[in-house]
Amino acid sequence: MPDTRDVARIQAECTRFVFYHPPKTPRDILAELSAFTAPEVDSDIYGKGDLIEGFEAEIAALLGKPAAVFMPSGTMAQQIALRIWADRKGVRQIAFHPTCHLELHEQQAYREMHHLQGVLVGDRYHLITLDDLKHIPVPLAALLLELPQRYLGGALPSWEDLNAQTAWAHERGIVTHMDGARLWECKPFYRREYAEIAALFDTVYVSFYKILDGIAGAALAGPEDLIAEARLGSGGTAGTWCTCTPSCCLPAKGWRSTCPAWGTTTPKRSRSRWRWRASPIWKSRPTHPTRT
Ligand SMILES: Cc1ncc(COP(=O)(O)O)c(C=O)c1O
Repeated sequence: MPDTRDVARIQAECTRFVFYHPPKTPRDILAELSAFTAPEVDSDIYGKGDLIEGFEAEIAALLGKPAAVFMPSGTMAQQIALRIWADRKGVRQIAFHPTCHLELHEQQAYREMHHLQGVLVGDRYHLITLDDLKHIPVPLAALLLELPQRYLGGALPSWEDLNAQTAWAHERGIVTHMDGARLWECKPFYRREYAEIAALFDTVYVSFYKILDGIAGAALAGPEDLIAEARLGSGGTAGTWCTCTPSCCLPAKGWRSTCPAWGTTTPKRSRSRWRWRASPIWKSRPTHPTRT
């Protein structure tokens, strides 16, 4: 097993990358920031300013939601959203897939800090099904669905399944929240606008550094009152920096330059994945290419 220095050295010698963006040094990032930041752009002050507010309005419009807020991380955005929904419903249970980011990578903060109870739905090697939902024994505040499902190689439920699952939740007064960290990859599969996909969900989180070319950063989109409350949650936990402008400039640029392409073409990563299918070394999940 090579150590991390070997990995970094090998990576530095590579000229082609399966991931969309090659790794960047801080110097590369700062140079890009300087090149893509228009001279007239002013820094925001605690989230107030044309760049960040304009960007939030664009995100809200693209996702067809009344409002959106820029946050430093998806971890923060999702915990805040789910906490608000649970408080409003007076129910602490939130349902999600066993490989959900909240369960695996957030040190169980949803439980320790927000006193939420995670209800793991379905099998970790398969997407959640409507039948899985029907077997949940407890009341739920919210159902979180991840589109596409990272640990299943970016698998997505069919449009019909997605509608059936979100309708199941809404019919029972359960809020639907989308972990759309990689939502940008879903459009070729569903052949629908982002807003149409997002319309099935009460709140949506999207990331700006996974596919788009940002440094970090996320947005939470949803109803006006919830987003206003989420701003309080973010500001009150130091999630609104004195200025978010540097982390907002690159996503704003990545958003405008790469987002439209992601919506219409098969990602390079997916195309490569199908080429690897014949390899005796690699196993591909999902086993069939997404429709493009
Ligand atoms: C599916 C998914 N959700 C949420 C997150 C959290 O995003 P962030 O790193 O911005 O906190 C990640 C990060 O990798 C993720 O893959």
